[in-house]
Amino acid sequence: MEGRAGIDAVSADREDRVESLLASMTLPEKVGQVVQVNLGEDRVPPELAAEIRDGRAGSVLNAVGSEVTNALQRIAVEESRLGIPLLLGRDVIHGFRTVFPIPLGQAASWDPEGVRAWSRIAALEASWAGVNWTFAPGLDIGRDPRWGRVAEGLGEDPHLSARLAEAMVRGFQGEDLSVAGSIAACAKHFAGYGAVEAGRDYASAAIPEAELRDVHLPPFRAAVDAGVATVMTAFHDLNGIPASANEVLLRVVLREEWGFDGMVVSDWRSIPELVVHGVAADEADAAAMAARAGVDMDMAGGAYGSHLARLVREGRVSEDRLDGMVRAVLRTKLRLGLFEAPYTDPSRFPAPGCEPHLEATRMAAIRSAVLLKNDGVLPLEVAQLSRVAVIGPLADDGYEQLGTWVFDGDPDLSRAPLPALREALGGRVHVDAVRALESTRSRDTAGIPAAVAAAARADVAVLFVGEESILSGEAHSRADIRLPGAQERLILAVAETGTPVVMVLMTGRPLALAAVADAVDAILCVWHPGTMGGPAIADLLLGRATPSGKLPATFPRMTGQVPLYYARRNTGRPARPDRITLLEDLPPRAPQHSAGNVSFHLDAGAEPLFPFGHGLSYTRFEYADIRAEPPALRPDGSVTITAEVRNVGERGGEEVVQLYIRDLVASMTRPVRELKGFRRVTLEPGERRTVSFTLTAADLAFHGRDLRPVAEPGRFHAWIGGSSRADLRTTFELEER
Ligand code: NOJ
Repeated sequence: MEGRAGIDAVSADREDRVESLLASMTLPEKVGQVVQVNLGEDRVPPELAAEIRDGRAGSVLNAVGSEVTNALQRIAVEESRLGIPLLLGRDVIHGFRTVFPIPLGQAASWDPEGVRAWSRIAALEASWAGVNWTFAPGLDIGRDPRWGRVAEGLGEDPHLSARLAEAMVRGFQGEDLSVAGSIAACAKHFAGYGAVEAGRDYASAAIPEAELRDVHLPPFRAAVDAGVATVMTAFHDLNGIPASANEVLLRVVLREEWGFDGMVVSDWRSIPELVVHGVAADEADAAAMAARAGVDMDMAGGAYGSHLARLVREGRVSEDRLDGMVRAVLRTKLRLGLFEAPYTDPSRFPAPGCEPHLEATRMAAIRSAVLLKNDGVLPLEVAQLSRVAVIGPLADDGYEQLGTWVFDGDPDLSRAPLPALREALGGRVHVDAVRALESTRSRDTAGIPAAVAAAARADVAVLFVGEESILSGEAHSRADIRLPGAQERLILAVAETGTPVVMVLMTGRPLALAAVADAVDAILCVWHPGTMGGPAIADLLLGRATPSGKLPATFPRMTGQVPLYYARRNTGRPARPDRITLLEDLPPRAPQHSAGNVSFHLDAGAEPLFPFGHGLSYTRFEYADIRAEPPALRPDGSVTITAEVRNVGERGGEEVVQLYIRDLVASMTRPVRELKGFRRVTLEPGERRTVSFTLTAADLAFHGRDLRPVAEPGRFHAWIGGSSRADLRTTFELEER
């Protein structure tokens, strides 16, 4: 109780300060607080200095480095009439100078504590540079890997994304936002941006409301519940309403239903773009619309700065609404403790890129790697090797392994796989390095014969293929998600030699690998692994570390299958293996042939290449003894699902134990499986562990026909296992009220 009273006193004091500041502000000063301007250079131009001095800007983005950030704060604090400090925003998406795996890669760790710690390091390094606000985490559910921004999100699943969203918020913001080293997080892009048509960035999205609430909103809700300080709107239009003008999302869902009292920022110029969307007649109209919808700050759009004061004077936006916007901004600044400590003192922080940070990102890269396939070639036995061929355009490129959104990432810090492997293999093993293709996109096959020759001479060929950083991220969508360029030819040619082939995949998205998956002996997906990708990969290939990552998103066989995700609904005609006829097996001239009349593609079947949750280890885990207790839960009770997991292999390893459920009969069609829990366990050979997950009725709820959350009585299946294909099943029942 005391603690609660203490917290209430702090927030009451904060609200008093907000009100007294607000009472002393002129209309132009209020407008100034909701304006964010871009800097993007390392000095303060006189026009910007004047804007801040006059109280015409409340936030600056892309100011980095203590000199420039402290100079900006000094003008705001010491030279403006009210002395209000600035929010200094930056895209610190997966690390700052030390780069961690891309967010999708971090999600593959299924390790909330790790993700928290890695975000913490990003926050410390950003604080060193005077940044006090990051535009992360990205929480868009990514079910269409054509969309380049799946790299920035946490995968296809609402439960996994929600747990990792909380972790990221806690990492960036720390226990206490006002302590040096904590920065404000920003849950983005609100909402439904991951569902843009055909995965084409910025395109429209159409999502039925129940699905929006069941699938796309939970990570945002989790971030809000974890105390995220800010939320960013999205660029696209959702069901015909651009996200930056969506009053229902911003005011009803976010504020009223979830009780969010932080700040909402637009995306970059997404307010003036309301004109381009065709919902606002001009920029003033756009500003009025966004302000009324609940966008508190205009990112680099110029619309609030140019029009808001007049809109308020004319009564098109009420002063009350503007006050609400300003309150949100001031509250955020007070929460950050900026009034007390506006400046950064770099000497108080560990140096960016220091050894402990590098070690953390090496661990992150190890935990994020997913062993998709292994015919037994991995781990490599160094003692039995005399020659290794290291092939491919991504074997030795310190920049490309960093991935998208690395404004401040330092490629010079990067440790690439080739030198790391040379070092790890020692002088005794000869390493033959052949780039073969200039880039992953290169179609010039002239370098392939040299790769083939090197592979033919080697005991094993390790191929570094995938996508460069530039092929994923914002505005980098692909219509065909196979390996680009001549990489498939390279892989197949190398595999033809008969030398065992290990394919290390660096990528910003799930790729369609059907053309090569069978030809290679092992596939290790490392995403864009970050600064220490090289040593992490060397550790994994040589068995000094054991892979333990699991897919946060489905890998389809072919592009045309997407969106393809494990939590699909059953349909009235689900695919059955015995009812599937593939194209090559169709009889000739058979007008009556039904091809099974079930839901699949003639040329791809119904299954992905690698399902959600999949990931192998160098050891093997077996599951047994699943049970649900009690077998029937009351609406106010709980059920505990338990199973035993055992390491039946020869090595120690970590397994991500996963719980899935299915609601068998419901008033709305429900997913065939839904992830409801997961836990990382470490097991020595022969060791067994009992793992339990407790669910309440709230965990079984979905949005019903009336769009309200409901947990409907009836039977449920539950599975515990090592992927979304787990087959160890039990049953429980939710009783009537
Ligand atoms: C546009 C992107 O959509 C958003 O994610 C990012 O934070 C802003 N630009 C700022 O760079």
